[in-house]
Amino acid sequence: MLKIENISVGILSDGTAMPIVRDVSLSIAQGEALGVVGESGSGKSLTAQSVARMYQSPLTILGGRVELDGIDLTKLSERELHALRGKAVSYVFQDPLNALNPTRTIGQHLLDVIRRHTPEGPREARSRAVEVLRSVGITQPEERMRAYPHQLSGGMRQRVLIAMGLVCVPKLLIADEPTTALDVTVQARIIDLFRDIQRRGISLLFISHNLDLVLEFCDSVAVMYGGRVVERGTAEEIGREARHPYTAALMSCIPRIENKTETLKVIPGSPPVGIDKVQGCPFAARCERVQDQCWQEMPPIERLSETHELSCWNPIPGGRAN
Ligand SMILES: Nc1ncnc2c1ncn2[C@@H]1O[C@H](COP(=O)(O)OP(=O)(O)OP(=O)(O)O)[C@@H](O)[C@H]1O
Ligand code: SF4
Ligand SMILES: [Mg+2]
Repeated sequence: MLKIENISVGILSDGTAMPIVRDVSLSIAQGEALGVVGESGSGKSLTAQSVARMYQSPLTILGGRVELDGIDLTKLSERELHALRGKAVSYVFQDPLNALNPTRTIGQHLLDVIRRHTPEGPREARSRAVEVLRSVGITQPEERMRAYPHQLSGGMRQRVLIAMGLVCVPKLLIADEPTTALDVTVQARIIDLFRDIQRRGISLLFISHNLDLVLEFCDSVAVMYGGRVVERGTAEEIGREARHPYTAALMSCIPRIENKTETLKVIPGSPPVGIDKVQGCPFAARCERVQDQCWQEMPPIERLSETHELSCWNPIPGGRAN
């Protein structure tokens, strides 16, 4: 359904391309959830924003294709893409308070989206809005339509944003860290909601820095570092047989009940930020398995199975021991 092929996003200056996101390839089937994980600055949001060109200038697509149901979105005009956003592809952003206009009611927010994408009259649009609020678990939806964003809790506001993303029944919902600002119990309820959305046949691109959460509910996982996908596979493959040292390092940062006496590991060093001029592997400075070649050349993408891919010169042999 969604196929991202070798997409690069960056800045074009005096004819020179300066990539930030490099050669990223991902795919999501209908009704499937793909989780994209990585530390801050790894390029998760830019990759997601490249789908419907949601990034800010001066960023631009430097190469690659984004195919949605056979149509290459990189070839569409701004007008054609505008018609698609909120309809075929919807985004749910991290911060519900900033994403909602404080002077407009929840109902007005939803009706704006419906008006933009459907020819429905006021009565039909209203009942569609009420129904979508109900479907995301908002009680007394008729009343909530009249509420302003500040009158709702953080979890409720996140549900409203998800409802706005769903109201025109998209093929693909892109959720960028939708649970980060929420406490753990509210987070769990929002994840249940995403499971329900998946069951409706909507595909999900779910961005998170929380590998544990992604492994728990996504079908497949892409691990990003320094603007590249360094490992991807099914959740099962990544959970049991991660081969990339960065994936393994992220995994050892997950608190586990059975290891409660062990101190939580921290990956030493910090990730590269912005335009990276490093020739070799961007993880080299922090990697326990680094060897000479890693500093010289970017590791190519190697296919381990139909679904499992890896970019590393010296991967963990036979998978990460759990
Ligand atoms: N408009 C822009 N101009 C220049 N650089 C940018 C722009 N937007 C993002 N970047 C840089 O691109 C890199 C990747 O950014 P991105 O927002 O995709 O990271 P992320 O993985 O989503 O991080 P986070 O977890 O903090 O949201 C970052 O280093 C960021 O500084
Ligand atoms: S290529 Fe080298 S530095 Fe990069 S992750 Fe693999 S072993 Fe580590
Ligand atoms: Mg981000």
